[in-house]
Amino acid sequence: MTQTKTILRALSGEVLPTPPIWMMRQAGRYLPEYKATRAQAGDFLSLCYNSDLAAEVTLQPIRRYGFDAAIVFADILLLPQALGADLWFETGEGPRLSTITTAAELAKLKPVDAIHEHLAPVYETVRILARELPKETALIGFAGAPWTVATYMIAGRGTPDQGPAHALKVTDRAVFDGIIERLTTATIEYLSMQIEAGADVVKLFDSWAGSLTGADFVAYSIAPMQRITAALKARHPTVPVIVFPRGAGERFAGVHQATGAACVALDDGIGAAWAAEHVQIDGCVQGNLASFHMVTGGQALVDETRRIVQAFGKGPHIFNLGHGITPDANPDNVQLMIDTVRGN
Ligand code: CP3
Repeated sequence: MTQTKTILRALSGEVLPTPPIWMMRQAGRYLPEYKATRAQAGDFLSLCYNSDLAAEVTLQPIRRYGFDAAIVFADILLLPQALGADLWFETGEGPRLSTITTAAELAKLKPVDAIHEHLAPVYETVRILARELPKETALIGFAGAPWTVATYMIAGRGTPDQGPAHALKVTDRAVFDGIIERLTTATIEYLSMQIEAGADVVKLFDSWAGSLTGADFVAYSIAPMQRITAALKARHPTVPVIVFPRGAGERFAGVHQATGAACVALDDGIGAAWAAEHVQIDGCVQGNLASFHMVTGGQALVDETRRIVQAFGKGPHIFNLGHGITPDANPDNVQLMIDTVRGN
């Protein structure tokens, strides 16, 4: 039987006449219906842990735009919370966590087996979505990659340069390695459960991979993603993995082989023509329209969308932004992007 989910066809290497499309942060504050449901939930974390409402916001952009994939509504920081970190969101500022920088704090983290009770609402969201999504819409599960999640756990917040995590890597490599190890094994179990609940695809977000230099890029971005991908493949051989080492630049070349992932997601810092030649030759790529076009729209959006579709047209490609859509985006520009990709 032909696969009806076009994203799965692209992920298995098929070159489609029109690339399938979805958008990072497609359920988010640029949509009035998202803001309404979030207000109903109370706050962002309550929304993440309310399976019915989390499924509802996941479905909103599918209903409005007919994207080819839905991504389960959750956050990469739910996993550290499940491991025992305190987590809260400061309005207008972003996430805050209790920090972990010592062997004693590492020892206090919960064992990997203990995460599932805390994360059960996420698995329930996935189950609801697997039931309710149109049959042609793929369901994407996700987690943060260990390095990116570690940067938040170590600093207790988002940081412009991931300084505290880089510092711990130098001052106490054993604790740093212990955090990466715990996150790697926990992420395997977390994603495995999302797959068992009904996710068709999983994605690893390594949003801060770009600040790793030299051998650290391989040791802390590539190697953990490779381990997670290999473990998931052994358990769920048909479920493709997408990896997103954001900011990797020329190091995007070779990431398919190095990680074993079916697809490499590209940010907008890398040229599409270059990436077609050096990354897409190894497999499916996803990306990479700059998010600001969702704010500015117009002919520039149309031209840039066409340029990207064309550049990746000879190989397997999933159209997406280079990073998440921002709250100031205009929902009409999203429709214009989709119409342009689909040639309407
Ligand atoms: O893409 C989707 O629609 C699925 C849901 C999703 C969210 N976060 C929802 C969210 C996904 C895949 C993420 C991933 C995530 N979360 C990343 C990796 C991707 C990236 O953006 O680089 C990171 C680093 C986080 C951590 C995080 N969560 C931060 C730094 C923030 C605050 C910044 C902000 O945009 O406000 C969040 C909050 C968050 N996660 C929001 C959403 C929709 C905004 C919360 C709100 O409604 O106020």
